[in-house]
Amino acid sequence: MVVETVVVAIWVMLPAYIPNNVAVLAGGGRPIDNGMTLGDGKRFLGDGKTWRGTAFGTVAGVAVALALNQIHPFVSGVVAADPFPIAAAVSLAFGAMLGDILASFLKRRTGRERGAAFPGIDQLDFVVVSLALTAIVATGWFFETFTLFVLVAVFVLTPVLHVSTNAIAYALGLKDEPW
Ligand code: CTP
Ligand code: MG
Repeated sequence: MVVETVVVAIWVMLPAYIPNNVAVLAGGGRPIDNGMTLGDGKRFLGDGKTWRGTAFGTVAGVAVALALNQIHPFVSGVVAADPFPIAAAVSLAFGAMLGDILASFLKRRTGRERGAAFPGIDQLDFVVVSLALTAIVATGWFFETFTLFVLVAVFVLTPVLHVSTNAIAYALGLKDEPW
């Protein structure tokens, strides 16, 4: 029961987990905010949010969902979730990027420089927005998939996975900070 819930939670969130990691690898080039600052003198988003990172991250997340759909027939006995509708594939992946972008907006407004930690927000921003967006664009699939147990598993597991993957990326020299 618990194992089944955890398996579903990780499976359905993979398209949302992948984008931020791919953005770290693929990021660079023109920042989304084009260098713009707001009235508070701080950047709108900052140099850490680029078009390239966002595009590659989103595409990678969608690709993961489509790949999982291909594997699904072989593991449907283990993974108690329906395949990703295309709308959910896109909303999970893009929502994750959007959540991270909104977090950067909040970081800048609260005076945090690029790369500064924002405990709590850093670990859950992308989950909240990808789930909210998916609930809107793939409502039927969302409520069938995200039972209360699965949601609890997602909110418990995500910070753990986030902290550990970022620590690994930092140790490998892929990321500038361990968060
Ligand atoms: N990245 C990107 N585009 C995104 C998200 C991330 O290009 N939409 C890349 C950037 O190179 C960024 C790196 O991934 O520096 C790490 O991402 P993140 O930790 O989210 O950004 P920070 O540089 O820490 O900036 P911020 O303080 O705004 O989060
Ligand atoms: Mg960061």
